[in-house]
Amino acid sequence: MYSKKVMDYFMNPRNMGEIEDASGVGTVGNAKCGDIMRMYLNVSEKGIIEDVKFKTFGCGAAIATSSMATELVVGKTVQEALKVTNKAVAEALDGLPANKVHCSLLAEEAINAALWDYAEKNNMNIEGLKPPKEDVHEEYLEEE
Ligand code: FES
Repeated sequence: MYSKKVMDYFMNPRNMGEIEDASGVGTVGNAKCGDIMRMYLNVSEKGIIEDVKFKTFGCGAAIATSSMATELVVGKTVQEALKVTNKAVAEALDGLPANKVHCSLLAEEAINAALWDYAEKNNMNIEGLKPPKEDVHEEYLEEE
């Protein structure tokens, strides 16, 4: 069963949409379930994430986790945003059913992919940032 918070973020997603000319855009997907998530972020000159939007073509948990992820990274520095794990996203939503934990992983990876794009566009080397994964699947959950 979904928590009330998951239902709320699914029914009333925060920060849904896109940012034109965003500092970074990242798209990730899970080939097994077919869900796709796209994250847009604007980063200020001081390295603060000022705006975040998402578009998700996927299940209710994917929508709720991507929306929550946008709230968790806005106002943070790039380094701080990198520390927002799928666990933190799931916890902020009061938990996810076991078969939906991979949806939160997609949210973590979408942020990472958007930051990767930002770093590439600006010729930056951001410590701890990894290249986006082509297929974000459950096996990565073990990798913590
Ligand atoms: Fe795959 Fe939700 S079922 S992201």
